[in-house]
Amino acid sequence: MPDDVVTMDKIVSLCKRRGIIFPASEIYGGIANTYDYGHYGVLLKRNVVDAWWQAMIGDRDDIVALDSAIIQHPRTWEASGHLAGFTDPLVDCRTCGQRFRADHLDAEHDVRCPRKPSVLPGQGPDCNLTEAREFNLMFETTIGPVQEAGSTVYLRPETAQGIFLDFKTVLGFARRKPPFGIAQVGKSFRNEITPGNFIFRTLEFEQMEMEYFVPPDDAHRWYLHWLEARMDWYERLGIRGDHLRLRAHEQDELSHYSSATSDVEYLYPIGWQELEGIANRGNFDLTQHAQHSGEKLEYFDQQSGERYVPHVIEPAAGVGRATLALLCDAYDEDQIGGEARTVLKLHPQMAPVKVAVLPLVRKDGQPELAHEVRNLLRRRMQTEYDEGGSIGRRYRRQDEIGTPWCVTIDHQSLEDRTVTVRDRDSLSQDRVAVDELPAFLEARLAAPWESPKLAV
Ligand code: GAP
Repeated sequence: MPDDVVTMDKIVSLCKRRGIIFPASEIYGGIANTYDYGHYGVLLKRNVVDAWWQAMIGDRDDIVALDSAIIQHPRTWEASGHLAGFTDPLVDCRTCGQRFRADHLDAEHDVRCPRKPSVLPGQGPDCNLTEAREFNLMFETTIGPVQEAGSTVYLRPETAQGIFLDFKTVLGFARRKPPFGIAQVGKSFRNEITPGNFIFRTLEFEQMEMEYFVPPDDAHRWYLHWLEARMDWYERLGIRGDHLRLRAHEQDELSHYSSATSDVEYLYPIGWQELEGIANRGNFDLTQHAQHSGEKLEYFDQQSGERYVPHVIEPAAGVGRATLALLCDAYDEDQIGGEARTVLKLHPQMAPVKVAVLPLVRKDGQPELAHEVRNLLRRRMQTEYDEGGSIGRRYRRQDEIGTPWCVTIDHQSLEDRTVTVRDRDSLSQDRVAVDELPAFLEARLAAPWESPKLAV
């Protein structure tokens, strides 16, 4: 189990206190497993997504971007196998009316019966569970004002299928040949019954998926390539290496489409859990959609005269899970001058706000110079101005949202146009000339970084 002070309750409470992430529809009492992201949550999540796009299309020439529709033709899900097979086995309790996943009734999953005494479902004296039934996780809706034959459609449970449907179109305009990839980020929806752990498992969530199309004989080599590349990516976000691992699926865990899958797992406060799945999907999806649509979904190599259905390697990540891992990995508590502090030791490049500009007092020209400094920085990095409350309280506020640097304007600043730069982690204070501040902070932002929690 985890060795630091972080717990899921502390993360939930910090996120709520600072408006990072909080329950959706709160004025109506909330809605199961559904959360809203506030200002700092949006900025943090955007940094995760930007880092993913950078790794997929900024740093490489062999991947193109796509944004496909959430509602696709209903036959998509017939072909993909989701209509028949994307199910969880569920049991109902006739006594308490709760619904549980039949495969999560063991001690390992620690799902509890809502009645007292707190026991695993089925183990209380009054528990009365039904037989397991298969329950499809796709949300259904209808096109048009009336429900009639053929009007039923589904909210996508993964973004991947939109990529397969567009394979031929993209191949036509992207001027790429295998190996090449199509990447997309977007919302997916699953009618999850299992009570989630905060944003770990939600009904709607953002996925970052990339389908990498390769010649069949090269599939295993590319599978290994993506395992390594994806682990590296999480480490580059600043997540501690000893809190990340790769776990290969056992044969009986594999999805219907996969011949090999490994999960990147993170040691959350709830234990090792999946951050991302990397699957060798073979030619399952293109073959299925070719059969169901009648379109040829293959690649013809004009040079060699070879025609084949590419195999697919798929790294599929969740934005929420990566965001939660960053929060858990960064959360720390320490003491400053005898006072307790909560701090997010985020990689500066991931931090929602890079620099806060704080006039020491709200007079003597300090706010004016602080605004000037803020304007100097705002086009270069996410900046915040704060003049409310004591300087100590303002530092604490920035520490809690993970701001790596606070720039303080004091009486000396008005005399010699220098400011102090306070470092969130070392607490060092550097005196820097205003004119040199942008270059100073940009260099700090670009510098190699490793979690200060590693040193403990
Ligand atoms: N296209 C393959 C696919 O969707 P998956 O393992 O079911 O594979 C990929 O999902 C990633 O999406 C997961 O590793 C996780 O990060 C995220 N994810 C899946 N279901 C989720 C949920 N209910 N809530 C939050 N994230 C979820």
